[in-house]
Amino acid sequence: MNRDVIIACDFSSKEATLDFLDKFKGSRKPFVKIGMELYYSVGPDIVREIKARGHRIFLDLKLHDIPNTVKKAMRVLSELDVDMTNVHAAGTVAMMKAAVEGLTRPDGSRPLLIAVTQLTSTSEEAMQKELLIGSGINETIVHYARNAMEAGLDGVVCSPLEAGMVKAACGSGFLTVTPGIRFADAAADDQVRITTPARAREIGSDFIVVGRPITAAPDPVAAYERCLREFIG
Ligand code: C5P
Repeated sequence: MNRDVIIACDFSSKEATLDFLDKFKGSRKPFVKIGMELYYSVGPDIVREIKARGHRIFLDLKLHDIPNTVKKAMRVLSELDVDMTNVHAAGTVAMMKAAVEGLTRPDGSRPLLIAVTQLTSTSEEAMQKELLIGSGINETIVHYARNAMEAGLDGVVCSPLEAGMVKAACGSGFLTVTPGIRFADAAADDQVRITTPARAREIGSDFIVVGRPITAAPDPVAAYERCLREFIG
């Protein structure tokens, strides 16, 4: 799997998203992440439109429901021709297997499917006290990654700092998709467990998901190209 930089298009309107993507007309077309806000406000047309412009798409909707519902929802998403989508590993192995089944098209092809282990916004304390999960957070992340692998998924979303232990547990071919990326000379914003594109590569990320360091940069194309240079080389 080739490493790549995925830009988190966290915009609330179609116009803002397309205006942003227009800036990349003369350069390599970025792999983009479309999240809940944009998808719920604009609908599936935004996916079709961005795909028609030649971008690869990670549709980040984090499905989590009973297996039958997830399977049927994934069947709908499989027709959108995205390149990557995801579920919560907390939905169980049965739910993740149903997701793979639903996402697989009649010709056997399917987008990459990855699992969210524990959200990086969940602290170990909240996980143990509120969710009553007795293990440590790293043990839980690795266990959920193993469940995702058993269910036939391609990888997990995790912090770049966790990518090494996921690779050690699940093998180098199991993908790690990692947000929480900041340039060495930049502000952390609200992210806590962060690292640089170069360090994420060293630890073993396959895809870095980068939002504000690119979208809020004075020159987004230059910031994207800097990410590519540091992460891919
Ligand atoms: O702007 P920034 O680079 O922090 O954006 C990171 C993107 O990755 C956002 O879309 C955020 O929702 C997403 N994300 C994250 N941490 C996770 C899962 C997703 O930051 N654990």
